[in-house]
Amino acid sequence: MAGDKLKGLVLCGGRGTRLRPLTYTRAKQLIPIANRPSVFYAIDDLAAAGIRDIGVVVSPETGAEVEEAFGDGEAWGVSFTFILQEAPLGLAHAVKTARPFLGRDSFLMYLGDNLLSGGLSRLVEVFRSGDLHALVLLTRVEDPTQFGVAVVDLQGRVVRLVEKPKDPPSDLALVGVYVFHPVIHEVIETLRPSSRGEYEITDAIQGLLDRGLRVAAHRVEGWWKDTGKPGDLLDANRVVLSRLSRRLDGDAVDSEVSGEVVVETGARVVRSVVRGPVHIAAGALVEESHVGPYTSVGRGARVVRSDVEYSIILDEAAVIDLPCRLDASVLGQGATVRGGANRPHRHSVRLVLGDRSLVSL
Ligand code: G1P
Repeated sequence: MAGDKLKGLVLCGGRGTRLRPLTYTRAKQLIPIANRPSVFYAIDDLAAAGIRDIGVVVSPETGAEVEEAFGDGEAWGVSFTFILQEAPLGLAHAVKTARPFLGRDSFLMYLGDNLLSGGLSRLVEVFRSGDLHALVLLTRVEDPTQFGVAVVDLQGRVVRLVEKPKDPPSDLALVGVYVFHPVIHEVIETLRPSSRGEYEITDAIQGLLDRGLRVAAHRVEGWWKDTGKPGDLLDANRVVLSRLSRRLDGDAVDSEVSGEVVVETGARVVRSVVRGPVHIAAGALVEESHVGPYTSVGRGARVVRSDVEYSIILDEAAVIDLPCRLDASVLGQGATVRGGANRPHRHSVRLVLGDRSLVSL
């Protein structure tokens, strides 16, 4: 008999190659969305669904940083067990690595670079009441070749799954949130690496189907984001910022601050226009600038005599005297973008800069 308890498994490994240069210096799951590490939204959802015992799979490169950011879980009322995956050999390999932690319990696996709006409670309920071996989440996507893809029959049953197909059999992608019965471990033991050299969780779920076991699919309610690329990060930031409620704890002096704007304690907005949704973190300075909409400004960051729209400015970064608008950009921690004085605004620039970069325009 499998245990009755549902554990959580959050995957925070991977190299984040599509997010370089940001991921040269930080785990992709810790890149902030609305000034919080993106993976924290997953932890919020697990905690809200009553899942208290959470395994966090980490890589040798970023494990220490992830552990430090997560802390002991007390803030969420959960406990974390950090599990080292020595090499990025795929999602099924991550589950195999976590097997001692998972034991004979069912578990909800959440890929740390995914973001879901609808919460997890309904998913947990469907898994529990359905006596299932796996429950997957599906959503329609424009380019299914980038995802695991499911073929579903007229009754809504999953009949076949294929990872990143060149010739997709449907446009229903697997979202990076799954619930598994411990029987999945037996299938994983029999897997062979895929053509990209990884042990694919998609193949493991296909293995459950091949054994005639019960795999159900649930459609995503609300939005879902895979924050694998800079454009996805910006879009996720937009969506999370859209849920903000106005809160001005810091100072706004001689400024026009409209809409859903958060100015944290210790942040200052001086002679500026801020159009929400915008999140300005503690210690940041916005001076003689125009910020927003859809922009987050990190702790201690500075935006001075510049226009910034639809961008993510990490902690301690600086945008100073820009001659043109900064748009759809992600600036790494401590990065500086600086312009000369008195040049007219002619166009906009889009930048993705790693930590401590320096750009003069
Ligand atoms: C992984 C899974 C894929 C799934 C995707 C969701 O892909 O292998 O099936 O659709 O996550 O984000 P990866 O992000 O590892 O390329």
